[in-house]
Amino acid sequence: MPKKTKYLVTGGAGFIGSNFVHYLYRHHRNIQVCVLDKLGYSASLENLKQYAGRSDFEFIKGNICDAKVVAKAMAGAHVVVNFAAEVAVDRSIDDPQSFLKTDIFGVYTLLEEARKQKNLKKFIQISTDEVYGQILKGSFRENSETLPRNPYAASKLGGERIAYSFFKTYDLPVVITRAANNYGPSAYPEKVIPLFITNLVDSLPVPVYGQGRQMRDWLYVDDHCSAIDLLVSKGENGEVYNVGAGEECTNIDLTKRILKLMGKDQSFINFVADRPGHDFRYSLSCAKLKKLGWQPQYNLTDGLKATVLWYQDNEAWWRPLKKNLDQRFVKGFWGGRK
Ligand SMILES: NC(=O)c1ccc[n+]([C@@H]2O[C@H](COP(=O)([O-])OP(=O)(O)OC[C@H]3O[C@@H](n4cnc5c(N)ncnc54)[C@H](O)[C@@H]3O)[C@@H](O)[C@H]2O)c1
Repeated sequence: MPKKTKYLVTGGAGFIGSNFVHYLYRHHRNIQVCVLDKLGYSASLENLKQYAGRSDFEFIKGNICDAKVVAKAMAGAHVVVNFAAEVAVDRSIDDPQSFLKTDIFGVYTLLEEARKQKNLKKFIQISTDEVYGQILKGSFRENSETLPRNPYAASKLGGERIAYSFFKTYDLPVVITRAANNYGPSAYPEKVIPLFITNLVDSLPVPVYGQGRQMRDWLYVDDHCSAIDLLVSKGENGEVYNVGAGEECTNIDLTKRILKLMGKDQSFINFVADRPGHDFRYSLSCAKLKKLGWQPQYNLTDGLKATVLWYQDNEAWWRPLKKNLDQRFVKGFWGGRK
């Protein structure tokens, strides 16, 4: 790596992207970070306020589908990490088009600009385990079949495959990550864990889809960041890496754990109509990443404790976001779909 490494972090005002920026400054010296973010509904500049005015930090408001703004943000970059995406499965069911635009065309726009960069060492495309679809037994490996079952997952697969094609066709140094469900500080309060915590702070019920039997593999956000950081230096170009902590839990168990941590009983559970095409279980084998030396540091117990504490201590961060949660989506998700 050169003496001063420039990182372009797209979507860096969102949940995982902003945690990755914190991770970079905590673990590296001589770095220059540029965040490109359109500041969509889930973004918060509060997440980056501690860097305002620093000479080694730049924020650019803009869309990854806009080639001009992408060219400005990427100029001289050594590393690009693309977090920018439309992300919520439920939103993708109601509005697939915006997902196709950002998660496929936006990735393509970044890749075209990346081809022009002389200093580029790595282009990390952040993808998701949802590209595999569901698995009832065993765990997905990187060469498992991909069968995405909702427009979000399908768009993410489209984006990562375009990225792979740029590796094969133009020798672009692309690495793809497929991560499990992330949780931790500063996740938008429409996501299940922050939604439940913030509802319970206000003694409101928590909506559980169906009977809550679906199973998810939970990854504390800092562990995702350490995996990405490792892959910047050690990831093999053209390869896909699963990122998961193996902390599997049914949604109802997760709900009960959060209730217990917050001193609430089970009368706060409100079972609501299930999501269409709701994947039953995700599970990842992460042997390939672990071979590079990665180990998650958080189990679900410690990670949930840290997350509950963060939301309890940061009401000023989440209250304005929660107030603005789009009522149309709230009714669609948790009021039962028509
Ligand atoms: N949250 C998870 O559990 C999870 C799991 C696996 C993978 N991922 C992937 O990680 C990435 C980040 O997810 P997150 O949970 O932090 O989401 P988030 O919604 O908190 O952050 C996404 C950020 O991207 C920005 N953005 C969206 N469209 C943009 C565009 N067209 N141009 C510029 N910026 C744009 C948003 O403003 C936001 O700040 C996504 O690519 C997602 O697919 C997330």
